[in-house]
Amino acid sequence: MAERTRVAVLLSGRGSNMQSLVAASRAPDARYDIVLVASDKPEAPGLTWAAGQGIATFAASPKGRPKAEFEGEIDAALRAAGVELIALAGYMRLLSPAFVAAWAGRILNIHPSLLPKYKGLDTHARAIAAGDTVAGASVHLVTEALDDGPVIGQTQVPVMADDTADTLAARVLVAEHALYPAALNGFLSAR
Ligand code: GRF
Repeated sequence: MAERTRVAVLLSGRGSNMQSLVAASRAPDARYDIVLVASDKPEAPGLTWAAGQGIATFAASPKGRPKAEFEGEIDAALRAAGVELIALAGYMRLLSPAFVAAWAGRILNIHPSLLPKYKGLDTHARAIAAGDTVAGASVHLVTEALDDGPVIGQTQVPVMADDTADTLAARVLVAEHALYPAALNGFLSAR
């Protein structure tokens, strides 16, 4: 069996993409294990779910202290867990250039748009406002700039005439759950 990469997920919220990454990691031919789920939000529901699965979790709050100190704690937890690659999944904080440099080429993110379109927030409302007939999600390598690194995988869904941002988000999210594990496995196989 191919050796598996030790992956940590960083999240800030519900963690549905993290759950799909964990589920897919249980396939015999998966290229990775989720060894840590970490968050900037101690109350993130994703942490509770991961702990319930027996996965190690870590939370550090950035409130009221320098970013370097907060990120230093995350970095130490990642290294203590022997993490080799970080998968951002709804992590709502921009990583500092120093952190990105320390993990260069080893941080992935999933973004709910067909990058380079609609970096940042409110991607679904912006796609609808633009009259797009196709939307989707992208997995990309993380660089210093927001939602900007090389795209390693994309998936498309149709935009329906009566879509709201919420109905489109729900359709894209289902596609995200298939995309992220496939892109991660593909990325690790190609290395
Ligand atoms: C997803 O739409 C992801 O693309 C974006 O944030 C959302 C996270 O959702 N980066 P979840 O926490 O994985 O359910």
